[in-house]
Amino acid sequence: MKGIILAGGRATRLRPLTLVTSKQLLPIYDRPMIYYPLNTLIKSGIKDILIIIAPDYSGHYLNLLGTGEDFGAHFSYIVQKEPRGLADAFILGKTFIGNDCVTMILGDNIFDQDFSSEIKSFKSGAMIFAKKVPDPERFGVVDFDNNMKAISIEEKPALPKSNYAVVGLYTFDNSVVDNAKNLKPSARGEIEITDLNNIYLRKGEMKVNIFDSLWEDAGSFDSLLRVSNYMQQKSSTK
Ligand code: DAU
Repeated sequence: MKGIILAGGRATRLRPLTLVTSKQLLPIYDRPMIYYPLNTLIKSGIKDILIIIAPDYSGHYLNLLGTGEDFGAHFSYIVQKEPRGLADAFILGKTFIGNDCVTMILGDNIFDQDFSSEIKSFKSGAMIFAKKVPDPERFGVVDFDNNMKAISIEEKPALPKSNYAVVGLYTFDNSVVDNAKNLKPSARGEIEITDLNNIYLRKGEMKVNIFDSLWEDAGSFDSLLRVSNYMQQKSSTK
């Protein structure tokens, strides 16, 4: 299993903070944001990790993370020139992925959960994680039938069919490389991870795991503060 952290994008919502560095390097309490997705992957036994970054501040990542040796891992880097969409990770990552399976995590998604048993036991198809939220219209939304079998995934629907948001942690078998290549850009001009997920859902090859611990998409000032406070509390009760 290879790992990808998608840490590009423009993060205009976090200006002026992101005029001096990348969003995924901003502090979450006592460490840079990217340490969290890195730890999520490393805890799951993934040691070979590709970090996809935007052209601006790419040197900051190299200075901070280097080869990965300090983390007991191996890091590679690719610059994504334009934010073409989340599924672009599997096109840019084609050579890195090789013939392996891959877990992709968004560089601004913070979890406080060990996903290692699910990731280590992954065999084929696709696997995503979902959490009940009060504002599902901001995310990919997965709907279930009465037996909790996933039946649809929609990207930021105006009228969400459920309260389950698809979080930024995705595991695929090697077919993701070809499937991503064949995606067409959506109305917002991006190749969507939701379209990719729906390919597996339609074929009955998608597993959805529900969880209920902390999840923050740290893309706003409020979520940055919330998750920093959470981590500060957690460290003070250790
Ligand atoms: O956070 C979970 C949500 O992430 C999912 O529920 C949605 O289904 C999924 O589409 C995504 O929605 P967002 O609107 O939050 O995605 P956003 O465009 O903000 O990108 C997420 C992160 O990925 C962000 O930190 C920047 C980075 N990114 C994004 C794009 C489009 C890249 O590095 N490259 C890209 O091309």
